[in-house]
Amino acid sequence: MRVFAPLSVVLLALASVAATAQAPAAQKPSPSSHKIAVKAPAAQQVALTPPMGWNSWNYFAGKVDDKGVRAAADQIVATGMKDAGYVYVNIDDTWEGERDANGVLQTNEKFPDMKALADYVHSKGLKIGIYSGPGSKTCAGYAASLGHEEQDAKLYASWGIDYLKYDLCSFREDTMAVKVPNDEAAQMHLMIAAYGKMGKALKSTGRPIVYSLCQYGWDSVWEWAPSVGGNLWRTTGDVQSNWGSIYDIISQQAGLAKYAGPGHWNDPDMLEVGNGHLSTAENRSHFSMWALLAAPLLAGNDLPNMKPEVKAILTNRDVIAIDQDRLGKQGTRAYADGEVEVWTRHLSGGALAVAVLNAGSNRVASHPFHLSLSKIGLSGAQKGKDLWTGKEVTLTDNMPVELQSHDILLVRIASPK
Ligand code: GLA
Repeated sequence: MRVFAPLSVVLLALASVAATAQAPAAQKPSPSSHKIAVKAPAAQQVALTPPMGWNSWNYFAGKVDDKGVRAAADQIVATGMKDAGYVYVNIDDTWEGERDANGVLQTNEKFPDMKALADYVHSKGLKIGIYSGPGSKTCAGYAASLGHEEQDAKLYASWGIDYLKYDLCSFREDTMAVKVPNDEAAQMHLMIAAYGKMGKALKSTGRPIVYSLCQYGWDSVWEWAPSVGGNLWRTTGDVQSNWGSIYDIISQQAGLAKYAGPGHWNDPDMLEVGNGHLSTAENRSHFSMWALLAAPLLAGNDLPNMKPEVKAILTNRDVIAIDQDRLGKQGTRAYADGEVEVWTRHLSGGALAVAVLNAGSNRVASHPFHLSLSKIGLSGAQKGKDLWTGKEVTLTDNMPVELQSHDILLVRIASPK
Protein backbone atom coordinates (compact mmCIF):
# COMPACT_ATOMS: atom_id res chain seq x y z
CA MET A 1 0.00 0.00 0.00
CA ARG A 2 1.23 3.47 -0.84
CA VAL A 3 2.33 5.52 2.16
CA PHE A 4 2.35 9.26 2.65
CA ALA A 5 5.96 9.82 1.78
CA PRO A 6 5.68 13.58 1.22
CA LEU A 7 3.53 13.96 4.26
CA SER A 8 5.95 12.32 6.64
CA VAL A 9 8.45 14.95 5.57
CA VAL A 10 6.23 17.80 6.63
CA LEU A 11 4.96 16.30 9.86
CA LEU A 12 7.76 17.47 12.11
CA ALA A 13 7.99 16.52 15.74
CA LEU A 14 7.64 19.52 18.02
CA ALA A 15 7.04 19.55 21.74
CA SER A 16 5.32 22.38 23.59
CA VAL A 17 1.63 22.00 24.05
CA ALA A 18 -0.71 24.76 25.17
CA ALA A 19 -4.24 24.55 26.50
CA THR A 20 -7.32 25.72 24.65
CA ALA A 21 -10.86 26.48 25.69
CA GLN A 22 -12.19 24.34 22.84
CA ALA A 23 -10.57 21.08 23.89
CA PRO A 24 -13.19 18.36 24.22
CA ALA A 25 -14.50 17.84 27.74
CA ALA A 26 -14.31 14.12 28.37
CA GLN A 27 -16.49 14.19 31.48
CA LYS A 28 -19.32 16.15 29.95
CA PRO A 29 -22.29 13.84 29.26
CA SER A 30 -22.96 13.71 25.54
CA PRO A 31 -26.38 15.02 24.49
CA SER A 32 -26.80 11.98 22.27
CA SER A 33 -26.30 9.43 25.02
CA HIS A 34 -28.93 11.32 27.00
CA LYS A 35 -31.23 11.12 23.99
CA ILE A 36 -30.84 7.37 23.66
CA ALA A 37 -31.67 6.82 27.30
CA VAL A 38 -34.98 8.56 26.72
CA LYS A 39 -35.82 7.25 23.28
CA ALA A 40 -34.59 3.71 22.94
CA PRO A 41 -36.78 1.07 24.53
CA ALA A 42 -35.09 -2.15 25.65
CA ALA A 43 -35.90 -4.05 22.45
CA GLN A 44 -34.10 -1.43 20.37
CA GLN A 45 -30.76 -1.55 22.16
CA VAL A 46 -29.07 -2.38 18.91
CA ALA A 47 -26.66 -0.31 16.87
CA LEU A 48 -25.15 1.39 19.92
CA THR A 49 -22.24 1.99 17.57
CA PRO A 50 -22.72 2.35 13.79
CA PRO A 51 -23.54 -1.07 12.26
CA MET A 52 -20.64 -2.80 10.52
CA GLY A 53 -20.91 -5.53 7.94
CA TRP A 54 -21.37 -6.15 4.24
CA ASN A 55 -24.24 -5.57 1.84
CA SER A 56 -24.78 -7.25 -1.51
CA TRP A 57 -26.05 -4.32 -3.55
CA ASN A 58 -23.08 -2.15 -4.50
CA TYR A 59 -21.22 -4.92 -6.25
CA PHE A 60 -23.65 -7.79 -6.94
CA ALA A 61 -26.96 -5.89 -7.31
CA GLY A 62 -29.47 -8.33 -8.91
CA LYS A 63 -26.88 -11.12 -9.12
CA VAL A 64 -26.87 -11.83 -5.40
CA ASP A 65 -27.77 -15.39 -4.45
CA ASP A 66 -27.50 -17.86 -1.58
CA LYS A 67 -24.08 -19.04 -2.66
CA GLY A 68 -22.73 -15.48 -2.91
CA VAL A 69 -24.03 -14.59 0.54
CA ARG A 70 -22.44 -17.70 2.06
CA ALA A 71 -19.19 -16.84 0.30
CA ALA A 72 -19.33 -13.30 1.68
CA ALA A 73 -19.88 -14.66 5.20
CA ASP A 74 -16.95 -17.06 4.77
CA GLN A 75 -14.73 -14.23 3.59
CA ILE A 76 -15.70 -11.89 6.41
CA VAL A 77 -14.27 -14.52 8.72
CA ALA A 78 -11.29 -15.56 6.57
CA THR A 79 -10.08 -12.01 5.85
CA GLY A 80 -10.12 -10.93 9.48
CA MET A 81 -13.00 -8.53 8.83
CA LYS A 82 -15.06 -10.26 11.50
CA ASP A 83 -12.29 -9.79 14.05
CA ALA A 84 -12.10 -6.14 13.01
CA GLY A 85 -15.80 -5.66 13.83
CA TYR A 86 -17.81 -6.52 10.70
CA VAL A 87 -20.90 -8.41 11.79
CA TYR A 88 -23.91 -7.98 9.49
CA VAL A 89 -24.20 -9.89 6.21
CA ASN A 90 -26.99 -8.02 4.47
CA ILE A 91 -28.98 -9.26 1.50
CA ASP A 92 -30.27 -6.28 -0.46
CA ASP A 93 -32.97 -6.25 -3.15
CA THR A 94 -33.85 -9.18 -5.48
CA TRP A 95 -34.24 -12.07 -3.00
CA GLU A 96 -38.04 -11.87 -3.05
CA GLY A 97 -40.47 -14.30 -4.73
CA GLU A 98 -44.28 -14.18 -4.76
CA ARG A 99 -46.76 -14.37 -1.89
CA ASP A 100 -48.63 -17.63 -1.32
CA ALA A 101 -52.40 -17.91 -0.85
CA ASN A 102 -52.02 -16.80 2.78
CA GLY A 103 -49.95 -13.79 1.85
CA VAL A 104 -46.72 -15.32 3.10
CA LEU A 105 -43.82 -14.04 1.04
CA GLN A 106 -41.69 -16.70 -0.62
CA THR A 107 -38.08 -16.37 -1.63
CA ASN A 108 -37.18 -16.66 -5.32
CA GLU A 109 -35.07 -19.42 -6.87
CA LYS A 110 -31.81 -17.65 -5.97
CA PHE A 111 -32.55 -18.21 -2.27
CA PRO A 112 -33.89 -21.76 -1.83
CA ASP A 113 -33.99 -21.68 1.99
CA MET A 114 -33.63 -18.39 3.84
CA LYS A 115 -33.78 -20.00 7.29
CA ALA A 116 -30.93 -22.35 6.37
CA LEU A 117 -28.95 -19.39 5.04
CA ALA A 118 -29.55 -17.42 8.24
CA ASP A 119 -28.47 -20.44 10.28
CA TYR A 120 -25.30 -20.69 8.21
CA VAL A 121 -24.46 -17.01 8.71
CA HIS A 122 -25.19 -17.29 12.43
CA SER A 123 -22.98 -20.38 12.66
CA LYS A 124 -20.07 -18.14 11.65
CA GLY A 125 -20.77 -15.83 14.58
CA LEU A 126 -22.24 -13.23 12.22
CA LYS A 127 -25.69 -11.67 11.82
CA ILE A 128 -27.91 -11.49 8.77
CA GLY A 129 -29.88 -8.65 7.21
CA ILE A 130 -32.63 -8.43 4.62
CA TYR A 131 -34.39 -5.81 2.50
CA SER A 132 -37.94 -4.67 1.78
CA GLY A 133 -39.98 -1.51 1.49
CA PRO A 134 -43.31 0.07 2.44
CA GLY A 135 -44.66 0.03 -1.12
CA SER A 136 -46.04 -2.83 -3.17
CA LYS A 137 -42.73 -3.21 -5.03
CA THR A 138 -39.09 -2.81 -4.17
CA CYS A 139 -36.84 -0.55 -6.23
CA ALA A 140 -35.90 -3.51 -8.42
CA GLY A 141 -39.58 -4.40 -8.91
CA TYR A 142 -39.88 -7.34 -6.50
CA ALA A 143 -42.63 -7.86 -3.91
CA ALA A 144 -42.43 -5.42 -0.99
CA SER A 145 -44.36 -5.18 2.28
CA LEU A 146 -47.40 -2.94 1.62
CA GLY A 147 -50.35 -4.45 3.51
CA HIS A 148 -48.17 -7.27 4.88
CA GLU A 149 -45.98 -5.42 7.35
CA GLU A 150 -46.68 -7.54 10.44
CA GLN A 151 -46.67 -10.74 8.47
CA ASP A 152 -43.30 -9.89 6.93
CA ALA A 153 -41.77 -8.80 10.22
CA LYS A 154 -42.82 -12.13 11.77
CA LEU A 155 -41.42 -14.00 8.80
CA TYR A 156 -38.06 -12.21 9.14
CA ALA A 157 -37.98 -12.99 12.86
CA SER A 158 -38.82 -16.65 12.19
CA TRP A 159 -35.87 -16.86 9.84
CA GLY A 160 -33.60 -15.23 12.40
CA ILE A 161 -33.12 -11.94 10.59
CA ASP A 162 -31.17 -9.30 12.54
CA TYR A 163 -31.37 -6.23 10.29
CA LEU A 164 -33.94 -4.77 7.89
CA LYS A 165 -33.29 -2.12 5.25
CA TYR A 166 -36.65 -0.60 4.33
CA ASP A 167 -36.61 1.25 1.04
CA LEU A 168 -39.30 3.75 0.03
CA CYS A 169 -39.37 3.23 -3.74
CA SER A 170 -42.84 2.34 -5.09
CA PHE A 171 -44.62 3.70 -2.01
CA ARG A 172 -44.26 7.10 -3.68
CA GLU A 173 -46.26 6.05 -6.73
CA ASP A 174 -48.60 3.41 -5.37
CA THR A 175 -49.61 5.18 -2.17
CA MET A 176 -48.41 8.77 -1.71
CA ALA A 177 -49.27 9.95 -5.21
CA VAL A 178 -52.55 8.01 -5.27
CA LYS A 179 -53.97 8.69 -1.82
CA VAL A 180 -53.08 12.37 -1.46
CA PRO A 181 -52.11 13.72 -4.87
CA ASN A 182 -50.77 17.27 -4.91
CA ASP A 183 -50.48 17.46 -1.14
CA GLU A 184 -46.83 17.13 -0.27
CA ALA A 185 -47.30 17.52 3.47
CA ALA A 186 -49.92 14.77 3.57
CA GLN A 187 -47.65 12.57 1.45
CA MET A 188 -44.84 12.98 3.96
CA HIS A 189 -47.20 12.08 6.81
CA LEU A 190 -48.14 8.91 4.97
CA MET A 191 -44.49 8.09 4.47
CA ILE A 192 -43.65 8.61 8.14
CA ALA A 193 -46.65 6.49 9.17
CA ALA A 194 -45.51 3.71 6.82
CA TYR A 195 -42.05 3.66 8.42
CA GLY A 196 -43.72 3.73 11.84
CA LYS A 197 -45.86 0.74 10.91
CA MET A 198 -42.87 -1.43 10.10
CA GLY A 199 -40.96 -0.08 13.11
CA LYS A 200 -43.81 -1.23 15.33
CA ALA A 201 -44.11 -4.57 13.56
CA LEU A 202 -40.41 -5.25 14.06
CA LYS A 203 -40.60 -4.31 17.71
CA SER A 204 -43.56 -6.59 18.33
CA THR A 205 -41.59 -9.59 17.07
CA GLY A 206 -39.53 -9.27 20.25
CA ARG A 207 -36.37 -9.96 18.24
CA PRO A 208 -33.70 -7.24 18.24
CA ILE A 209 -33.66 -6.17 14.58
CA VAL A 210 -31.69 -3.17 13.38
CA TYR A 211 -34.10 -0.93 11.44
CA SER A 212 -32.48 0.90 8.54
CA LEU A 213 -34.56 3.56 6.80
CA CYS A 214 -33.85 4.17 3.14
CA GLN A 215 -35.81 7.07 1.67
CA TYR A 216 -32.90 9.21 0.50
CA GLY A 217 -33.18 11.89 3.20
CA TRP A 218 -36.67 13.08 2.35
CA ASP A 219 -38.55 15.30 4.75
CA SER A 220 -35.53 15.69 7.04
CA VAL A 221 -35.71 12.04 8.03
CA TRP A 222 -33.07 12.61 10.75
CA GLU A 223 -35.67 14.59 12.70
CA TRP A 224 -38.23 11.80 12.93
CA ALA A 225 -36.50 8.48 12.20
CA PRO A 226 -35.68 7.64 15.86
CA SER A 227 -39.31 8.18 16.82
CA VAL A 228 -40.41 5.43 14.40
CA GLY A 229 -37.75 3.06 15.74
CA GLY A 230 -35.12 3.80 13.08
CA ASN A 231 -31.54 2.97 14.01
CA LEU A 232 -30.12 4.55 10.87
CA TRP A 233 -31.43 6.48 7.94
CA ARG A 234 -30.04 7.26 4.54
CA THR A 235 -29.35 10.96 4.18
CA THR A 236 -28.93 11.09 0.39
CA GLY A 237 -29.54 9.34 -2.92
CA ASP A 238 -27.48 6.32 -3.92
CA VAL A 239 -23.71 6.32 -3.65
CA GLN A 240 -21.72 5.33 -6.71
CA SER A 241 -18.19 4.06 -7.10
CA ASN A 242 -16.65 7.32 -8.24
CA TRP A 243 -15.09 10.19 -6.33
CA GLY A 244 -17.67 12.74 -7.54
CA SER A 245 -20.49 10.78 -5.93
CA ILE A 246 -18.58 10.12 -2.72
CA TYR A 247 -17.55 13.75 -2.29
CA ASP A 248 -21.05 14.95 -3.12
CA ILE A 249 -22.41 12.78 -0.31
CA ILE A 250 -19.74 14.03 2.12
CA SER A 251 -20.79 17.59 1.30
CA GLN A 252 -24.41 16.81 2.06
CA GLN A 253 -23.68 15.74 5.64
CA ALA A 254 -23.19 19.29 6.90
CA GLY A 255 -25.48 20.14 9.78
CA LEU A 256 -26.54 16.54 10.49
CA ALA A 257 -24.06 15.67 13.25
CA LYS A 258 -26.39 16.58 16.08
CA TYR A 259 -28.91 13.94 14.98
CA ALA A 260 -26.51 11.03 15.37
CA GLY A 261 -25.77 9.13 18.55
CA PRO A 262 -25.78 5.65 20.06
CA GLY A 263 -28.67 3.68 18.55
CA HIS A 264 -29.48 6.22 15.84
CA TRP A 265 -27.16 7.16 12.99
CA ASN A 266 -27.03 9.21 9.82
CA ASP A 267 -26.34 6.86 6.92
CA PRO A 268 -24.43 8.38 3.98
CA ASP A 269 -24.91 5.00 2.22
CA MET A 270 -22.87 1.83 1.95
CA LEU A 271 -19.17 1.68 1.20
CA GLU A 272 -17.81 1.60 -2.33
CA VAL A 273 -14.28 0.82 -1.11
CA GLY A 274 -12.78 -1.59 -3.64
CA ASN A 275 -15.41 -0.96 -6.30
CA GLY A 276 -15.22 0.68 -9.71
CA HIS A 277 -12.10 2.65 -10.51
CA LEU A 278 -11.57 4.29 -7.14
CA SER A 279 -7.87 4.85 -6.54
CA THR A 280 -6.22 3.72 -3.32
CA ALA A 281 -6.23 7.34 -2.12
CA GLU A 282 -9.95 7.63 -2.89
CA ASN A 283 -10.73 4.36 -1.11
CA ARG A 284 -8.74 5.56 1.90
CA SER A 285 -10.44 8.96 1.96
CA HIS A 286 -13.89 7.41 1.52
CA PHE A 287 -13.29 5.02 4.45
CA SER A 288 -11.75 7.73 6.64
CA MET A 289 -14.60 10.14 6.04
CA TRP A 290 -17.24 7.51 6.78
CA ALA A 291 -15.44 6.89 10.08
CA LEU A 292 -15.33 10.63 10.80
CA LEU A 293 -19.06 10.76 10.06
CA ALA A 294 -19.89 7.89 12.46
CA ALA A 295 -21.41 6.20 9.44
CA PRO A 296 -22.40 2.55 9.19
CA LEU A 297 -19.48 0.66 7.68
CA LEU A 298 -21.14 -1.74 5.27
CA ALA A 299 -18.59 -2.98 2.80
CA GLY A 300 -20.08 -3.35 -0.67
CA ASN A 301 -17.31 -5.06 -2.60
CA ASP A 302 -16.62 -8.53 -3.96
CA LEU A 303 -15.07 -10.08 -0.86
CA PRO A 304 -13.80 -13.35 -2.39
CA ASN A 305 -11.79 -11.29 -4.90
CA MET A 306 -10.69 -8.44 -2.65
CA LYS A 307 -7.25 -6.98 -3.36
CA PRO A 308 -4.80 -6.82 -0.41
CA GLU A 309 -4.75 -3.00 -0.43
CA VAL A 310 -8.55 -2.92 -0.20
CA LYS A 311 -8.52 -5.41 2.67
CA ALA A 312 -5.89 -3.29 4.42
CA ILE A 313 -8.17 -0.27 4.19
CA LEU A 314 -11.33 -2.06 5.32
CA THR A 315 -9.55 -3.66 8.27
CA ASN A 316 -7.59 -0.65 9.50
CA ARG A 317 -8.46 -0.96 13.16
CA ASP A 318 -7.40 2.54 14.11
CA VAL A 319 -9.80 4.01 11.58
CA ILE A 320 -12.55 1.59 12.59
CA ALA A 321 -12.02 2.68 16.20
CA ILE A 322 -12.81 6.26 15.16
CA ASP A 323 -16.05 5.09 13.55
CA GLN A 324 -16.99 2.90 16.49
CA ASP A 325 -16.08 5.36 19.22
CA ARG A 326 -18.54 4.74 22.03
CA LEU A 327 -19.34 8.42 22.53
CA GLY A 328 -21.07 8.29 19.14
CA LYS A 329 -20.43 11.94 18.29
CA GLN A 330 -20.41 12.48 14.54
CA GLY A 331 -17.59 14.61 13.16
CA THR A 332 -18.04 17.97 11.53
CA ARG A 333 -16.25 20.09 8.96
CA ALA A 334 -14.18 22.63 10.88
CA TYR A 335 -13.18 24.67 7.85
CA ALA A 336 -12.27 24.58 4.20
CA ASP A 337 -9.49 26.35 2.35
CA GLY A 338 -10.09 26.09 -1.35
CA GLU A 339 -10.56 22.45 -2.09
CA VAL A 340 -8.88 21.24 1.09
CA GLU A 341 -11.18 20.51 4.01
CA VAL A 342 -10.44 19.96 7.67
CA TRP A 343 -12.83 17.80 9.65
CA THR A 344 -12.73 16.90 13.33
CA ARG A 345 -14.48 14.35 15.50
CA HIS A 346 -14.57 14.38 19.30
CA LEU A 347 -13.89 10.95 20.77
CA SER A 348 -14.28 9.32 24.14
CA GLY A 349 -11.62 10.03 26.72
CA GLY A 350 -11.20 13.56 25.37
CA ALA A 351 -9.40 12.41 22.21
CA LEU A 352 -9.82 14.13 18.86
CA ALA A 353 -9.67 12.88 15.29
CA VAL A 354 -8.46 15.38 12.70
CA ALA A 355 -8.83 14.78 8.97
CA VAL A 356 -7.34 16.91 6.23
CA LEU A 357 -8.98 15.99 2.92
CA ASN A 358 -7.76 17.14 -0.46
CA ALA A 359 -11.05 17.05 -2.34
CA GLY A 360 -9.61 18.75 -5.40
CA SER A 361 -8.76 16.98 -8.62
CA ASN A 362 -5.82 19.16 -9.52
CA ARG A 363 -4.26 20.32 -6.29
CA VAL A 364 -0.92 18.61 -6.01
CA ALA A 365 1.97 18.28 -3.62
CA SER A 366 3.84 21.25 -5.06
CA HIS A 367 1.16 23.57 -3.73
CA PRO A 368 0.77 22.59 -0.07
CA PHE A 369 -2.06 23.52 2.21
CA HIS A 370 -1.18 25.00 5.61
CA LEU A 371 -3.03 23.68 8.64
CA SER A 372 -4.49 26.22 11.06
CA LEU A 373 -4.70 24.76 14.56
CA SER A 374 -6.68 27.68 15.94
CA LYS A 375 -9.42 26.98 13.42
CA ILE A 376 -9.87 23.54 14.98
CA GLY A 377 -9.75 24.88 18.51
CA LEU A 378 -6.19 23.81 19.29
CA SER A 379 -3.04 25.68 20.08
CA GLY A 380 0.55 24.54 20.24
CA ALA A 381 2.04 21.34 18.92
CA GLN A 382 -0.29 18.33 19.03
CA LYS A 383 1.13 14.85 19.30
CA GLY A 384 -0.90 12.20 17.55
CA LYS A 385 -0.89 9.10 15.39
CA ASP A 386 -1.21 9.13 11.61
CA LEU A 387 -3.80 6.38 11.21
CA TRP A 388 -2.71 5.44 7.69
CA THR A 389 1.05 5.26 8.20
CA GLY A 390 0.71 4.10 11.81
CA LYS A 391 3.45 6.55 12.76
CA GLU A 392 3.58 9.19 15.43
CA VAL A 393 3.11 12.69 14.11
CA THR A 394 2.99 16.16 15.59
CA LEU A 395 0.62 18.72 14.15
CA THR A 396 1.89 22.27 14.40
CA ASP A 397 0.28 25.54 13.51
CA ASN A 398 0.62 26.59 9.89
CA MET A 399 2.36 23.36 8.97
CA PRO A 400 2.26 22.46 5.31
CA VAL A 401 0.28 19.32 4.53
CA GLU A 402 1.03 17.86 1.15
CA LEU A 403 -1.65 15.57 -0.13
CA GLN A 404 -2.24 14.09 -3.53
CA SER A 405 -5.55 14.68 -5.20
CA HIS A 406 -8.40 12.99 -3.24
CA ASP A 407 -6.05 11.82 -0.50
CA ILE A 408 -6.43 12.33 3.23
CA LEU A 409 -4.41 12.76 6.39
CA LEU A 410 -6.16 11.22 9.37
CA VAL A 411 -4.67 11.80 12.80
CA ARG A 412 -5.86 10.75 16.25
CA ILE A 413 -4.77 13.07 19.02
CA ALA A 414 -5.13 11.33 22.37
CA SER A 415 -4.79 14.47 24.48
CA PRO A 416 -5.60 17.55 22.43
CA LYS A 417 -4.56 20.87 23.94
C1 GLA B 1 -32.38 1.81 -3.92
C2 GLA B 1 -31.47 1.91 -2.70
C3 GLA B 1 -30.21 1.12 -2.97
C4 GLA B 1 -30.56 -0.33 -3.26
C5 GLA B 1 -31.53 -0.41 -4.41
C6 GLA B 1 -32.08 -1.82 -4.60
O1 GLA B 1 -31.84 2.43 -5.04
O2 GLA B 1 -31.18 3.24 -2.41
O3 GLA B 1 -29.33 1.19 -1.87
O4 GLA B 1 -31.12 -0.90 -2.11
O5 GLA B 1 -32.66 0.45 -4.21
O6 GLA B 1 -33.03 -1.90 -5.61
